Amino acid sequence: MDKILIRGGKPLRGAVQVRGAKNATLPLMAAAILAEAPCTLHNVPCLHDVFSMDKLLSHMGMSIEFTGRYMTLDASGIVEPYAPYDLVRKMRASFFVLGPLLARFGRARVSLPGGCAIGTRPVDIHLKGLEAMGATITLDEGYVVAEGRLKGANFALDFPSVGATETLMMAACRAEGLTRLTNVAREPEIEDLGKFLNGLGARISGAGSDMITVVGVDALGGTEHVVVADRIEAGTFLAAGVATHGDVTVLNANADHLPTFLRKLREVGAEIEVSGGRIRARALNGLHATDITTHPFPGFATDLQAQMMALLTCAQGTSIIKENVFENRFMQVAELIRMGADIDLDGNTAIVRGVERLSGAPVMASDLRASAALVIAGLMAERGETAVARVYHIDRGYERIEERLASLGADIERVRE
Ligand code: EPZ
Repeated sequence: MDKILIRGGKPLRGAVQVRGAKNATLPLMAAAILAEAPCTLHNVPCLHDVFSMDKLLSHMGMSIEFTGRYMTLDASGIVEPYAPYDLVRKMRASFFVLGPLLARFGRARVSLPGGCAIGTRPVDIHLKGLEAMGATITLDEGYVVAEGRLKGANFALDFPSVGATETLMMAACRAEGLTRLTNVAREPEIEDLGKFLNGLGARISGAGSDMITVVGVDALGGTEHVVVADRIEAGTFLAAGVATHGDVTVLNANADHLPTFLRKLREVGAEIEVSGGRIRARALNGLHATDITTHPFPGFATDLQAQMMALLTCAQGTSIIKENVFENRFMQVAELIRMGADIDLDGNTAIVRGVERLSGAPVMASDLRASAALVIAGLMAERGETAVARVYHIDRGYERIEERLASLGADIERVRE
C-alpha cells in the first residue's frame, strides 16, 4: 500500500489545472447505458472510481475505450441488466446504473451498495421515485430487482439527494409521458448530466434548478460531451493554498459552482480573485475562525467540510462546524487531534479551537475527503513529517495529488510499501 510523506510549513504558490469532475463522470458513464449509439466524453479524470465504473459497465457488456482524458462508450453490447455485488460494493456510485438499466430494458437486478465510512447511505428515495413511475421493486438476497415499463409521474424527493435526482432524471428520459421532480438536488453535476441526456435526445428542462421536468422519448442516440470541472478538487487546492498562507490559482474552474465556499474563504481572511475560469486565493495575514454548516448546493458543500476543518484548526478563535448532509463525516477529527488540533465533537457538530501550529504525525486515511484534509494538515504542520497511510482513499478522487501539490512547492512524495 502506498503512503504519502509530507514535510509541511511551506506556503503553496502557483497555478494548478482542475480536472473533470468525478461526481459528474460517474453518473455520465452510467447514463451512457441509455444511448443506442456510441458516446464520447472529454475531460475525463484519471481516477480509481472511474476505473471501477469502467470495470462494472464493461462487465455488463458495454465497450469502453479510455485513453488520456477521452472516453468512448458503446452500450450496444449490454445484454443482461445485472450489476453484481462484488463490483457494486467497491463503489457505491455503481448504483447509478439501476435507473438507466430499468428505463432501457424494462428490468434490472442491481446489488444494494451497502454503507460506507461516512454513513449508511440508504437508497430509499431512488426506489420510491422509481415506484412512483410504475416500477415494481423487490429486494432479493441483497439485490434490488426492478421491473416494469416506466410512466411519467410527479414525485417530490424527501431530501434533495444528488444520486436519487440523477437516478430519477435518467429513468424519466424513457418513461412514457411527463415526469415532474421537485425538491431535487441542484448541484452543478446534475446540470451537467441534464446537458448530456439532452445531447442524447432527451427532453429535460430545469436540471440544476429546484424542479426538473422530463418528457419521455422512445429512444436515445449518442452524443459528445465535455465533463464539467471538478468544483471539489478546485476547493481542495484553494483550501490548501490558504491553509499554508500561500497564493494558489486554480485553472479551468467555475466560481459559480463554489458560492458559499468562496464566501467562507473570504471570511477566514483570504483574498479571492475570480477572472473567467481562474480562481486565485491568497492568505495575506493571519486566518481567523468562522462557522460552517453543510447543505445541499448552493450551500456549503459537504465534500469540502473536512478540508475546511483542517484549515480552521490553526485559525484564530473558535469555529463551529455543523455537518447536516451525512451522519458520520468527521472521520478526520481523531487524526487531526493527533497532529495537535483542539476539536470537540457533539453529535453532528464539531467545535474547533484554533491552535498555534500542527505537528506532523503518522496518520490513516479513511474516506476520500477526510484523507484530503489530512494532506492539508500535513502541509500546514510546521514541525515533523506526516505519513498518510492507505492513500488509495485519496486516489479514488484526486489524480496524482502529490505531484500536483509538489508543483505548488509542497515537500511531498509518494512511497510504495
Ligand atoms: C453524492 O453522493 C456524491 N457522490 C458525494 O460525494 C456527495 O458527498 C453527495 O452526493 C452529497 O453532495 C457522487 O456523486 C458519486 P446524496 P450521494 O444521495 O448521491 C441521504 C465524494 O466525496 N439519502 O445526496 O450518495 C444520504 O444518506 C462523495 O465525492 C437518503 O436518505 O449523496 C445522505 O445522508 C462522497 N436516501 C444524504 O441523503 C436516499 O435514497 C445525501 O446523500 C439517498 C440519499
